[in-house]
Amino acid sequence: TGRPRLFSGMQPTSDSLHLGNYLGALVQWVAMQEQFDPIYCVVDLHSLTLDTDPKVLRQRTRVTAAQYLAGGIDPARSAVFVQSHVAGHSQLAWVLSCITGFGEAARMTQFKDKSARHGQDGANVGLFTYPILMAADILLYDAAKVPVGEDQRQHLELTRNLAQRFNSRFGQTFVVPEPYIVKATAKITDLQEPTAKMSKSAESQNGVIDMLADPKVVAKRIRSAVTDTEREIRFDEEAKPGIANLLRIYSALAGESIPELEERYAGKGYGDLKKDLAEVVVGVVEPFRARALALLDDPAELDRILADGADRARQLAEVKMARVYDRVGI
Ligand code: ADP
Ligand code: NA
Repeated sequence: TGRPRLFSGMQPTSDSLHLGNYLGALVQWVAMQEQFDPIYCVVDLHSLTLDTDPKVLRQRTRVTAAQYLAGGIDPARSAVFVQSHVAGHSQLAWVLSCITGFGEAARMTQFKDKSARHGQDGANVGLFTYPILMAADILLYDAAKVPVGEDQRQHLELTRNLAQRFNSRFGQTFVVPEPYIVKATAKITDLQEPTAKMSKSAESQNGVIDMLADPKVVAKRIRSAVTDTEREIRFDEEAKPGIANLLRIYSALAGESIPELEERYAGKGYGDLKKDLAEVVVGVVEPFRARALALLDDPAELDRILADGADRARQLAEVKMARVYDRVGI
């Protein structure tokens, strides 16, 4: 296509994406189709680092893929597939692990955080080598750009180091990827605890909007969002995190600027804002949900799309792996 290749993926770790994933990732992915040649992967191998029931994992993988498509990822423009369907990810991860220093891997702060949560014995080796698998995901396809949030910066830096190291030891083989900084998409926060980010791992899900939720539940959660004791609708993240979050969601979904919204709601009450926003959110969630459920109801069609995406990815991966094995002498 002549457009720069871009790689991104999400783990199939929940039964539904939430509004934060939708606005913070999926909407950006859809927009990036205009500019890039994207590969959007459901990274199920990464999810094996969590101890998930096989039936649940299988279902979540399909649901995640269906949601990529429901959100507007166009399989004619983007390769949409499941990571484990292309053997090159695991193959390249092994080769890269053999040029990664133990201490270098041990410095990854996300591993330190996650293993601290699991305790010494609870953390598996997959969690430790996870960034190397992520490097393989990217380098396998010569991705020039990788959209990264703050939490993935260090992993992308490792990916770049591994690409450069391999190239200088064995000859030019990999494109060294650049981070693609997505336009300041502020984090969507929890509707009940508006200083915390909306997350699938929140203890209570009452402040989370699932993209596959019943529209009635969605509307209710918006209407019961925590605000503050003032009455004024203005954007102030410090003093009014709840209202700021509602305005952010409104602005992102309706495509109106926050100052425009502040002006429209001047002198109106929180109830007016919530009522209108509930309509806006339902207007997005309802058709999204219908599209995702239709795909899940037609397993043959979803399988066909994923097989097609995997075929396209595999063609690239096989050429790259043959080259890599040749370079290292196997
Ligand atoms: P969670 O935080 O619920 O575990 P993930 O870590 O699986 O979500 O994130 C998947 C994608 O969604 C990432 O690109 C991440 O940056 C984005 N994302 C997750 N939560 C939010 C949020 N509250 N606001 C904006 N983007 C988010
Ligand atoms: Na997370």
